[in-house]
Amino acid sequence: MILNYKINNTKLEITFCKKEEKNNISKSIDKIKSDKNILITFDEKVSKKIVKEVQEDLRLSGCKIHILKCEGNKSNKNEKLLFKIIDLLMQKKFTKRSIIISIGGGVVGDVSALASSLYLRGLFYFNVPSTMTAIVDSCVGGKTAINYKGITNSVGTYYHPKNVFIFEDIIKTLPDREFFAGIAEIIKCGVIDNKNILIFLNKYRKKIFARDYPVISKLCLMTLKSKIKFFTKDVYENDQRLFLNFGHTFAHAIEMAIENNLKRDYIRHGEAVGLGILSEIFYANKGKSALYTLVKNLLHKFNLPTNLSLKHIPIDPVKLQTNIYKNIFLDKKKIDKYPRYISIKNQGKPFIKEIKDFDFLNDTIIELLN
Ligand SMILES: NC(=O)c1ccc[n+]([C@@H]2O[C@H](COP(=O)([O-])OP(=O)(O)OC[C@H]3O[C@@H](n4cnc5c(N)ncnc54)[C@H](O)[C@@H]3O)[C@@H](O)[C@H]2O)c1
Repeated sequence: MILNYKINNTKLEITFCKKEEKNNISKSIDKIKSDKNILITFDEKVSKKIVKEVQEDLRLSGCKIHILKCEGNKSNKNEKLLFKIIDLLMQKKFTKRSIIISIGGGVVGDVSALASSLYLRGLFYFNVPSTMTAIVDSCVGGKTAINYKGITNSVGTYYHPKNVFIFEDIIKTLPDREFFAGIAEIIKCGVIDNKNILIFLNKYRKKIFARDYPVISKLCLMTLKSKIKFFTKDVYENDQRLFLNFGHTFAHAIEMAIENNLKRDYIRHGEAVGLGILSEIFYANKGKSALYTLVKNLLHKFNLPTNLSLKHIPIDPVKLQTNIYKNIFLDKKKIDKYPRYISIKNQGKPFIKEIKDFDFLNDTIIELLN
């Protein structure tokens, strides 16, 4: 199954690959004018079998393969990994006709995509997303980034993968945590856009837990279509695309508050997005609402946190609260005096609003910590 979309008249694809269809990558490479020189950047936690099978297929189709094992986790989404990739491209004399294929989560994907856009101002980029967050979100849309000076995604470009390959094997073998974290981004698209996604999640919960590939592919397809609709109309995020940031003003503030203190990846991006969605609904509605309860129940049903339980976080609660508050003001959507967020009172009706009620902002953070 292939999902096609266009950015500035360039045709791009997302290919769903069943177990026996890993040769879709080599078939796709045969269609472009490349020099068949390939760097595979892969997350060390992706099954070795999958990485080997991809390499084997590419070798058989006449490609020259170089590999770079990378560590996932947001603490490695930095200039060190970026320049490790770029140095290797230089050392191996890659040209603009060469290819990077990343097999990884949002971290390895975002950094590999940034390297692809910077080296010689751009070479071919393919993505095999290996976490659910990457499958339903970071693999498309063209946002590339590293975290710099403690600020999430503060250095990056827009650069789209020529093709994305979603592997049945990856969905089947993902650890639960990396699987469920991505469900938060799926719920996000259900709340801002397509309510059938929310209905589908409830109806097929058991099959999703059982990693039923046809059901999960349908869910990913609905979510990706929703995301594509927003970013193809507004590639550089001036307006409509901002809705995809629903939950992210709080999510990034939470992630930065924890990671800048603990210096390690403690909360998955998707888990923070789930908390961010709840917080933004709470803030928009001045308290709990029917939508708040619906989303909270869904997060709970899919093993996602619904509050920032301090029991497990070795940070002073007052410090955590203060840091989350401060980080809200670092949000990249801020263009004026006030930080902005996506306000939703009713499903499917998002608005971009400013956070002006600082007392209620504090109450919202306190609710999150309880
Ligand atoms: N570009 C975008 O539009 C976009 C969208 C959403 C998120 N992101 C970014 O993505 C990152 C979060 O993504 P993520 O949650 O995938 O993070 P990640 O890449 O750090 O992966 C999370 C964990 O899963 C492990 N992992 C990856 N694939 C695995 C596999 N197949 N089996 C077992 N373990 C595996 C990783 O090693 C890591 O420990 C953040 O940096 C976020 O900013 C970007």
